[in-house]
This record gives sequence, C-alpha cells and structure tokens, in this order.
Amino acid sequence: MPNIFNTPFKIGILGGGQLGKMLGQAASPWDLHISVLDADRHFPAAATCTEFVVGDFRNYDDVLAFGRQVDLLTIEIESVNSEALHQLVSEGLTVHPHPTALDLIKDKGDQKQFYKERGLPSSSFELFADRASILKALDAGSLSLPFVQKLRTGGYDGRGVAVIRRPAELELLMDGPSVVEELVDIDKELAVIVARNESGAVAAYPPVEMDFNPEANLVEWLLSPAQIDDETARRATELARQVIEAYGICGLLAVEMFLTPAGELLVNEVAPRPHNSGHHTIDSSYTSQFEQHLRAILNLPLGSTHMKTPSVMVNLLGEPGYEGQARYEGMEKVLALEGVKPHLYGKVMTKPFRKMGHVTILDSDLDRARTKARQVKDLLKVIA
Ligand SMILES: Nc1ncnc2c1ncn2[C@@H]1O[C@H](COP(=O)(O)OP(=O)(O)O)[C@@H](O)[C@H]1O
Ligand SMILES: [Mg+2]
Repeated sequence: MPNIFNTPFKIGILGGGQLGKMLGQAASPWDLHISVLDADRHFPAAATCTEFVVGDFRNYDDVLAFGRQVDLLTIEIESVNSEALHQLVSEGLTVHPHPTALDLIKDKGDQKQFYKERGLPSSSFELFADRASILKALDAGSLSLPFVQKLRTGGYDGRGVAVIRRPAELELLMDGPSVVEELVDIDKELAVIVARNESGAVAAYPPVEMDFNPEANLVEWLLSPAQIDDETARRATELARQVIEAYGICGLLAVEMFLTPAGELLVNEVAPRPHNSGHHTIDSSYTSQFEQHLRAILNLPLGSTHMKTPSVMVNLLGEPGYEGQARYEGMEKVLALEGVKPHLYGKVMTKPFRKMGHVTILDSDLDRARTKARQVKDLLKVIA
C-alpha cells in the first residue's frame, strides 16, 4: 500500500450527492485527497471534496478519463458506467467495489439469481422480459397474485417497485425486464452494514430497523439498535457477513433484510456503498460508516462498530406541495432539543419527498428518542 497520508494520493468518487459529501467529511480529519466526478459544481459533495470534476459518471469516456487521474476509485451511486470501470481495472487501477460485483448488484434479476446459487436466503422469484409476459403468465395460471414486481435495472428509493395484491392493481405493472417476487409477510425490515477490506477483515454494525413511509416508499425513520432479540441480531449480522464474503467486496455493503413473523431472515437487496440506514453512525458510533468505507477501500484496519448510544434517524424529505429553492423551517427549534443532530445536504432545489437531509436523535432511551423524533418531524420542514 502506497503512503496515502503524506502524499497527494487521490481517492476518486463517482457521484457527488450527499453520500459523497459525507465521505468527504470523513476524509477530512486524515487530510485525504478526495476527487469527485458529477455533473454540477453545486451538488452536495462539492462542499467537502478537495477536487470536483464536472462530468457524467454514466458516460464511458468521462469515467475513463476521471479514473486515469486518480489512485483509487469508489462510488457513491450504483448507476455508473461499469464498462469504463472494467477497463480501468484492466489498466491496473484499484476499483472498490469491484465492477464484477457491481454489475451483479445493479441488475436485481442477477442479484436474486446470485443469492439462489449461493444458497443465501431470499424470497422466491421469477424473471420476466416485459409487462406482457407477466400478464400472460397470470392468464396461464403459472403466476398468481399477490406479488412484487421490480424492474431489473434503474429503480431506486421505491421507484421501480410495484406491489400487486389485487387484480385492480395490475394497472400499476411497469414495462421492462423484471423480477417478480413472492410478496413476503414482513414483520420488520432490517439492515446490517458490513465492511470488508482487502486483507479479508470483516466488521458489521449492529442491525437497524427501518420504518417506511407508505406514500413515498422511502425510509421514514430508522431505529438503532433494531428492536429484536439477541439471537436474531446475531443471525442477521452473520448473514450480512456471508453476503459480503460471497460478493468478495472491499468497502461497505448495506444488506437490507426482511424478518418474517416466523423469525426467518431473507436478504432483500444490497448496496455496495454507504447507505441511508447507516447515517446514524456519524453521531452514534465509534466509527461512522463513511470512515469505515474509507478504511475498507484503503485496506486500513477496520474501525470499531461499537454503538455509543441508541438513536433514531429521520430522513428530512422535501415537504409535499413545495418545489423550488429550498428553505429550512424550524432549525432553531430542533437545535434547542438535546441530542438532536441535523445534517443538511445542501441541495439547492427541493421537491416533494426529495431527500434533503437527515436528523439523528441520540438518547440512552430509545422510546424517548422516538418521541423526540416525532417532535423533530413536526418542527422541521423543507419548503420552498
Ligand atoms: N418481496 C417483497 N415482499 C414484500 N415487500 C417487498 C418485497 N420486495 C420489496 N418490498 C418492499 O418494497 C421496498 C422497496 O423494495 P427494494 O427492493 O428494497 O427497492 P428499492 O431499490 O426501491 O429500495 C422494500 O423496502 C419493501 O418494503
Ligand atoms: Mg431497498
């Protein structure tokens, strides 16, 4: 490993959103050089990186040119041009996560197939070429309601996922190559963030519990630790470890899971990067997920995932009914509450349900934190 601390060793990040911004924040105490590629100098990461390169991370030439002038490359979003990443790897650049793993993860169909082949527990599924073939299978009786349709590529934050319970909901079916999954009876949605470095060290954060806003299909708030028994927590952590080892990923992997009423754990999907379900670690853990990602991709010792205090994380979403230049109403009021830590991403424009920031509420008592989180949600609004 070259000397990364006393030389201008450049860590390149594809994507300049909030995850890039928070990676830049974590890099600052060690004075690491972060170079970001994204379309606009007003994007969140521009505020914390050492160098911002304007370009399109979906474009082959832009990613290739960017990769050729950094010493190590990582991502903060999956929808990057992976052809260019394969080329860069063949030229000798270290890219984490490896583009082969990234390709598997980018396609929800390939991802599901991977779990099946590796014997990792996940819901049963079938692949379809388009909307018409799903309807045909229904007609033929080889497929039946209810089910969950997911576009194989391009979906995020609930977009690209349709839950079809009744015939009337079939109009929600999307067109395009899809995975159709059994509708799982979910008791809790859990996430375990796990890290692995090149030396093979693995470290997992305690499982967290995600609660969804049904309207936006976005994580509304997140409890850390998840309210599950120790044995379930141990199994969830072990499963996350198996998943990252199966992919052979260096860096972070966020493993989203379903816990069924029978106590079964199923892998839903993964993200090979810092994740919304790990934002609380900035304020509540010995090592933030962002610092951990840097440690992992640089093959440094992984940091302690020990939790200093329980917490609730609330996503700060653009208030419905407002679109335009963002304004934050109620900041003074929430800052007056003990243990309330707002993080504003610095996005210029707000729109309904856009992720504009998050707030972590620290409290030794999780119920008290939850009460305070409700207060925060009532007090703090992103309007235009
Ligand atoms: N097989 C399933 N059964 C029941 N609910 C599901 C299933 N798959 C997804 N969901 C619900 O839809 C949400 C979004 O699906 P997910 O695959 O995580 O897509 P996204 O990329 O939008 O996060 C999940 O968090 C869960 O609430
Ligand atoms: Mg998800």
